[in-house]
Amino acid sequence: MKGKICLLAVIALCCALLCGCRQEPRAEEPALVMGFSQLGSESSFRIGNTRDIEAQAQAYGVSLMMDDAKQKQENQIDAIRRFIAYRVDVIAFSPIVEEGWDNVLLEAKQAGIPVILVDRTIQTEISDLYVSQIGADFYQEGVLAAQYLLRKADALGKDRLRIVEITGTESSTPMRQRHEGFWDTLAGDPRMELLESVNGDFLRSRGAECMRYLLERYGDQIDVVFSHNDEMTMGALPEIEQAGYRPGQDMILISIDGGQEAIDILKAGRINCIVECTPMLGGLLMETALDIKAGKPVEGIIHPVERVFCDEDDLSALPPRGY
Ligand code: AHR
Repeated sequence: MKGKICLLAVIALCCALLCGCRQEPRAEEPALVMGFSQLGSESSFRIGNTRDIEAQAQAYGVSLMMDDAKQKQENQIDAIRRFIAYRVDVIAFSPIVEEGWDNVLLEAKQAGIPVILVDRTIQTEISDLYVSQIGADFYQEGVLAAQYLLRKADALGKDRLRIVEITGTESSTPMRQRHEGFWDTLAGDPRMELLESVNGDFLRSRGAECMRYLLERYGDQIDVVFSHNDEMTMGALPEIEQAGYRPGQDMILISIDGGQEAIDILKAGRINCIVECTPMLGGLLMETALDIKAGKPVEGIIHPVERVFCDEDDLSALPPRGY
């Protein structure tokens, strides 16, 4: 009888231990599940941004469902609907354009899934469609680009500078805000004249096409090229050289992003100024998502710290850019 009781006690203890083990979170259980819709892979910024988000998800123990929308808003909307159906903990995405998100984000809200905007923002009349936006202050980037140009005009003693602008994707946040920040800052300076603003969609191939068109139309008149990203600047550079001009000397080139390839060209004197737009947003994204899941308050807008690289600086000790 005594032996039987002992055996039952051992069995009961084993059951309790097993049940207890099942209740403990397993070591490999993710901190949260995140669905991320990336808008595409149009630039070194974008590729660096995707890589950083993937690396930081791993570092923070976040299970990441990454979707590449291949430059199409409808693909982003489909991806967000899939994330809702999967019932992820957090949805994050980089909106390719600012308008047209209300319906799908209302669906996420009704499903109780918090949304974080990464890099770009959206336009909406509805409040609370997203919890936080993590990305650059694009208006300030335009301001910094213009401030460089004002300094350069002073240094060169120029009384007239004719500017061509190659903008990013139509109706996207960086395109709109960089344009506004740049021209608001130059407004009222009689030396600055816009020849034409053309759309290069943030693509290298389009940057080349735009530059070819601008050179054919304005040729010698062009004093300044303000390009909204490195990719388009690098598309424009060979066109400028083939037309017989020395970029960085005959024309002032101002770019945005600060990827390694463009920084190397700046160091060689063929670009004059690059305003940084950092793609390294993954750490901030993971921390914000984890705070939201833990019920902690988060900032509505989070801007990373960014700087300017230009021909006024000694860049010899600049560490590798990582994108
Ligand atoms: O939204 C940020 C912009 O998008 C980057 O400046 C550009 O390179 C990218 O495609």
